[in-house]
Amino acid sequence: MERNEFIKSLGLGIAVVCAGSCLSGCGSKSNDPSPAGGGTPGGGGTSGTKVNVDLSTQLLTVGSFLSSGGVLFVRTATGNTTSSFIATQATCPHQGGALNWIQANNLIQCSLHSSQYSASGSVITQPNDGGTTQALKIYSTAISGNTLTATIS
Ligand code: FES
Repeated sequence: MERNEFIKSLGLGIAVVCAGSCLSGCGSKSNDPSPAGGGTPGGGGTSGTKVNVDLSTQLLTVGSFLSSGGVLFVRTATGNTTSSFIATQATCPHQGGALNWIQANNLIQCSLHSSQYSASGSVITQPNDGGTTQALKIYSTAISGNTLTATIS
């Protein structure tokens, strides 16, 4: 084998190996186990998706909250009944900021532009950047044993 032929064949082998690595690295994410199935800006998860919280270990105290699967869960009262919880979108309808529960004021507040929402999702305060936001989606909840389930709508 001539020197030039050897170099050409070596280059082709490297190209085949690189192409295989790149293609496998760019595969689809159809096996993504995310419970929300991805999120939508300002919305939360995919409609119809159910998101669970284990009440034996989470949301144990009044005023506690967590975001999971595109849902913001808030405990507003004692007892494991659906009336003790709020389930709403985890991100702000304005520009997707993270939402948090402010127990002292009994409201939901955006971490990005400080818009505020009531426990029923209505707008209390518009964003501080001059923009406008809209009411939050409130998701239906169910409790079975120690599992709180919200259904994204
Ligand atoms: S993203 Fe929430 S107020 Fe702007």
